[in-house]
Amino acid sequence: MKKGVTILGATGSVGRNALAVIDSLRDHFSIVGLTACRNAPLLRELIERYHPRYAALADEEQADALRSACPGHTRVLGGLEGVISVAAASEAQIVLSAIVGAAGLQPVLAAIKKGRTIALANKEPLVMAGGIITGLAQNVGATLLPVDSEHSAIFQCLCGNREQKIHKIVLTASGGPFYNTSTEALANVTPEQALAHPTWSMGAKISVDSATLMNKGLEVIEAHWLFGVDVESIEVVIHPTSVVHSMVEFLDGSIIAQLGRNDMKLPIQFALTYPDRMECPVERLDITEVSPLEFFPPKLDKFPCLALAYEAAKVGGTMPAVLNAANEVAVDEFLQRRLHFQEIPTIIERVMRDHQPVADPRLGDILAADEWARESAMESQRSHT
Ligand SMILES: NC(=O)c1ccc[n+]([C@@H]2O[C@H](COP(=O)([O-])OP(=O)(O)OC[C@H]3O[C@@H](n4cnc5c(N)ncnc54)[C@H](OP(=O)(O)O)[C@@H]3O)[C@@H](O)[C@H]2O)c1
Repeated sequence: MKKGVTILGATGSVGRNALAVIDSLRDHFSIVGLTACRNAPLLRELIERYHPRYAALADEEQADALRSACPGHTRVLGGLEGVISVAAASEAQIVLSAIVGAAGLQPVLAAIKKGRTIALANKEPLVMAGGIITGLAQNVGATLLPVDSEHSAIFQCLCGNREQKIHKIVLTASGGPFYNTSTEALANVTPEQALAHPTWSMGAKISVDSATLMNKGLEVIEAHWLFGVDVESIEVVIHPTSVVHSMVEFLDGSIIAQLGRNDMKLPIQFALTYPDRMECPVERLDITEVSPLEFFPPKLDKFPCLALAYEAAKVGGTMPAVLNAANEVAVDEFLQRRLHFQEIPTIIERVMRDHQPVADPRLGDILAADEWARESAMESQRSHT
């Protein structure tokens, strides 16, 4: 019997990779729902190809246009509510969340409430509301499976190993396109340069996050919630070729690592087929071609976003949501050429400094902190230009 899959963020980099995985495993999976934000032309193509029962665009106007253009077998919904309804559709056993940013929070919560298996690529909701997401999943018996390659690697390292015997998690980072760029030259880097990631092909926001090392900071918080490990026991190392996707060091000193090609189809497929493994249409890694495997400590002075993420995680409460929201605004401003690359951490730091964190936040506190941080980041940006 085929498993029904809903893909939130189907038009994005992870979403399209997920569809490629499903194309190669057509006897095992069928598409129940597809969502996007405003890319109506691509979503329409996907509807015609996969005949989902449900589709949604977060942008209401685009959803209206798509509805009138779409064949009758797919119910097209609009707005955040529409995306949430598709996320909660009962016909799907697995919901893959590949929405970018905080916009994925409420759809993910809706899917968890229905007890679905969630294949989670969208890390920002876990950063914002990790306690609420993991607590809800535990209460309703929903399974969270990591899709981020580092977290999939850690998950695989832990298969068959008891999590309480972890000494530390070692997250690998490529270092992004600017790791060896001088601090002076960083002042003039362009969005095009930031988007040219050396080892992975990804969406715009995560590519800039990789260039600032904020992506690794978000992943530290993501790993904390997914694996129940204190942030102090999560170490980041620079590994320029990204062959080792991450590692776990156990109490006895043994380190287990997962290696593979830099292709998101691998972790996506593992989340979809877990606990099974199937053939994957990704070129195999020739281990003789990947030496030497090099690892270095990160340069925190040059890339302050990583230190800011550790700080937000240690403060806890609403602070990680504030870090995330300020980062989303700053990255967008950089991509619109209204902010220099090196001002991204400056904006985030200012917003964090002005925030009075709420401990043990409810969802309403988190959404309020997110909104406050976005306004505060915009204000900070305006007042310094
Ligand atoms: N790309 C990777 O290789 C990779 C690896 C690991 C983890 N991740 C994580 O996976 C997530 C997706 O990354 P990506 O690189 O695939 O991003 P992306 O290429 O920018 O795609 C984002 C997807 O989310 C949709 N979306 C954007 N804003 C939305 C909103 N307000 N409401 C509903 N849907 C919205 C987009 O729709 P439109 O196309 O209509 O705008 C698109 O389908 C991120 O959280 C990222 O950190 C990505």
